[in-house]
Amino acid sequence: MRIGILADVHGNLQGLEAAWRALAAEGADLVLNLGDLVQYGPHPEECVAFAMEHRIESVQGNCDRAAARHRRDTGDEFENIHWRRLAGRVLEWTSGRLSGRSGSWLRRLPGEMRFEVERVRILAVHGLPGRISVGLPDGSALGAEDMLAEEARAERDGLTRSFDLLDVYDHLLEESRADLLLLGHTHSQALIWRPSGLIVNPGSVGGGTLPSAGTAALADIGNRRDISVSWIRFAFDGAAYARDCRAAGIPELFSRCILLGRDQRGAWHTPDTLLRQRWALEEQES
Ligand SMILES: [Fe+2]
Repeated sequence: MRIGILADVHGNLQGLEAAWRALAAEGADLVLNLGDLVQYGPHPEECVAFAMEHRIESVQGNCDRAAARHRRDTGDEFENIHWRRLAGRVLEWTSGRLSGRSGSWLRRLPGEMRFEVERVRILAVHGLPGRISVGLPDGSALGAEDMLAEEARAERDGLTRSFDLLDVYDHLLEESRADLLLLGHTHSQALIWRPSGLIVNPGSVGGGTLPSAGTAALADIGNRRDISVSWIRFAFDGAAYARDCRAAGIPELFSRCILLGRDQRGAWHTPDTLLRQRWALEEQES
C-alpha cells in the first residue's frame, strides 16, 4: 500500500494542488495530512474544501485548532515579536475567512490517527504524540547517518553514548507504540530509522521548506512489513501565490517566506546564501 504523506499546507492552494498531483502520479492509495491546513496563506477555506472533497485523511494542527476556535495565538515560537504580531493578524483574518462548515470540520479533526497496514502500526500526529505545538527535536545539524556513526564510534571506544537525541527518538517510538510515526509541524524533512521503528516528517507544502516548492513523502508498505520511504518534491506557481496573498492583504513577509524558502516563524530551511542575500536586499528595498 502506498501512503502519500503531506503536512503544513498553510493555506497554500497552489501548493496543495501540486502536492496532490505529485502524489497521485506516484500511485498513492491514500493521502494523509499531518495538520496545519490553514494560516499564513491566502486560501484557508479553499484548502479545507479541497481536503474534504478529495477525502484527505487529516489530523489537527495547532494552527487549525487556533483558527477554528478563533484564538489569537497559534502557540508557535517566532523569530521576534514583530513576526508574532503579524501572524496574529493573519490568524484573525483566517478565522474570519472560514465558513461555518470548514470551521467545524477543522474543530472536529482528531489530534492523532492510529491504524495498521500489513501489521505495521502507524501513528500520525501534528507535532509530537500528545503535544500539538511541539515539533521533533532538531536533528538537522547532525543527519541521521551522522548520528548512527557517532553511536557506533562511542560503542567501539567503549564510551557511554553522549548523543541522547537517539534516546529521544527511541523513547518516542516506544511510547507511541508505533512502528511508523508520522509527524509534521517543524516544516523540516526528517527520516529516522531506529531498531524499533521509523519516524518520518515530510517537510511542508506551504511552510517554506523549499523556495516556491513543497515536499511530501510516500511510504510504500509491502506485505512482509517492509517499508520504503521516498521524498516527493513539487514546484508550484509562486508568483500566483504571492499575488493572491497581496489581494487578501496578507503581509508581504509571509509570501516572501514561501518564495525564498523560509519558515513563517523565522527559521531558514535552505542553506542557500543567495536566497538569504536576496531576502536582505528585498528587506532594504521595502
Ligand atoms: Fe505548520
